[in-house]
Amino acid sequence: MGKPSFLQTQTSPQERNGRLTKRQYVRFAFYKIDPMWRRLPSEKQAEQKRELLATIENFNRRMLLRPYSLMGTRADTELLLWQIAESIEPFQELATAIMCTTMGGYLELTRSYLSQTKRSIYEIRDGLGNDHEQLIVQPTEAKYLFIYPFVKTRPWYRMSLAARQGMMDEHIQIGRKYPSVKLNTTYSFGIDDQEFVVAFETDEPADFLDLVQELRETEASLYTLQDTPLYTCINMSLAEALDALGGPKIAEPRKTETIKEVWIDVCPVDEFQPGETKVLYLDGQQVALFNVDGNLYALSNRCSHARGPLAEGEIEVSDDGCTVTCPWHYAKFDLSSGQVVDGVASAPVPSYIVEVRDDVIYVGRVPVAE
Ligand code: FES
Repeated sequence: MGKPSFLQTQTSPQERNGRLTKRQYVRFAFYKIDPMWRRLPSEKQAEQKRELLATIENFNRRMLLRPYSLMGTRADTELLLWQIAESIEPFQELATAIMCTTMGGYLELTRSYLSQTKRSIYEIRDGLGNDHEQLIVQPTEAKYLFIYPFVKTRPWYRMSLAARQGMMDEHIQIGRKYPSVKLNTTYSFGIDDQEFVVAFETDEPADFLDLVQELRETEASLYTLQDTPLYTCINMSLAEALDALGGPKIAEPRKTETIKEVWIDVCPVDEFQPGETKVLYLDGQQVALFNVDGNLYALSNRCSHARGPLAEGEIEVSDDGCTVTCPWHYAKFDLSSGQVVDGVASAPVPSYIVEVRDDVIYVGRVPVAE
């Protein structure tokens, strides 16, 4: 059985109702390589990239880390490491570890934004999963990430909450028109220079552009003090993001045709009770694991419509089987097969195998025979 590269278990809505969910810390660290590095012999470049890759991957169990390339999208920075952890210390330890590598000596940290998840003080009525309320950051597999630090004017905070809610309602109404764009809002008050860091995930940059342009016309926009610099980041594996910096390639060519067998050990079976849901990572994919009356099901956590988080969906049990309803636009999927049962989605979501061996739950995927 293949060992998982890393596992992050996240809290289900059921767990959130039961106890206070811990807030997460978030760091966006942007790097640029010294042009001198590009003049090194190619074998040294490859060796250094492999050392850096192994160093960063070593932190996989301590944080959720997403690499992005900005080569070709900005002049002042080239690599982003989006980091999510339960405390600040893993960020410091990773930063030190990177700088202690040989390639770290050539890397300049061009920007760093530190923030934390927090419940919004505004009532969010969009139902789109635009994560004003999220204490757990759940990045999607979207191809693009758009990030900027955000500061409101002081007069904004002097207005009544009701007045601000009214303006936020207009803002949210516009966001509802762009379901392909997912917003992750995190808070920086007192822990970094900006007040918020906003990170939008999408596969459709044009939708994001249209959304931002439309938001400029809102009343709330009058109270924006700063919303730059804006970073356009491209999602890729860490090896690919390092290859994008230059030098010989170290990333394995993507094998889109072959699916390799992969399993992950989740937890002892008695630690996952009926009614609970977990989100875990299997070979880089978010998987939602459900315990419905003692029966275990695993589906991709990303709805095939617009990537809504199925782990937060409503479960129904009937004589025909079990279904989960996406919390964003209410597409309904069969929990056993991932097939669409009802609603706006037109494609199924991948389903995974769940097995209990020696009282431990395993989730896996095996190649399908031709
Ligand atoms: S994201 Fe639209 S139905 Fe799931």
